[in-house]
Amino acid sequence: MKFFVDTANLDQIKEAYDLGVLDGVTTNPSLMAKEGIKGKEKQYQHYVKICDLVQSDVSAEVISTDYEGMIKEGEELAALNPHIVVKVPCIADGIKAIKHFSNKGIKTNCTLVFSLGQALLAAKAGATYVSPFIGRLDDIGDDGIDLVAKIVATYRYYGYATEVLAASIRNVTHILQCVEVGADVATCPLDAIKGLLNHPLTDSGLAKFLADYKKVNG
Ligand code: G3P
Repeated sequence: MKFFVDTANLDQIKEAYDLGVLDGVTTNPSLMAKEGIKGKEKQYQHYVKICDLVQSDVSAEVISTDYEGMIKEGEELAALNPHIVVKVPCIADGIKAIKHFSNKGIKTNCTLVFSLGQALLAAKAGATYVSPFIGRLDDIGDDGIDLVAKIVATYRYYGYATEVLAASIRNVTHILQCVEVGADVATCPLDAIKGLLNHPLTDSGLAKFLADYKKVNG
């Protein structure tokens, strides 16, 4: 399974990259705003910095909600760097825009997906990735992982090339559940990725090894 980090914070992206397990980055307008990156020029410069850092897929989201605006923005974003994936919300104009980008060989990530129906349209339009939001579905008492499982099964049954990029991941459990249901990608907060490492028996076992070594070797 591919690991993407879900942040626009360069320090966190570098830490994830240096860990040696990073396969890409996803951003969104809220994550960019959180970093205080104001204005199109600075935003575009920031996307290029991320691409140069990780040299792998980086999702950059359009802010337009109309077809013409999405096309203009998306083509500008795609022209920034070969690693840019144009992120488009799962609305009618977004699906239409994804089809346009697919026909032009521009990679896309259909985001804000909360149903199998939406995921089906994204795949039919030729999206590179579809982003079902696990955490936000769980937040309203729905079952986010169940949606991911249904999308994975549907894409495999019909042979869609679109990759299931599980998003809105909040913790280690979400990541492991994505593994169980066969998501292609999990885009995670850095802490969730690092949390996979944590086990008390590893810590106690290492402490014992070092203590036993020290007893003999000083
Ligand atoms: O960036 C897309 C998605 O992962 C954001 O999810 O619910 O943490 O805002 P959330």
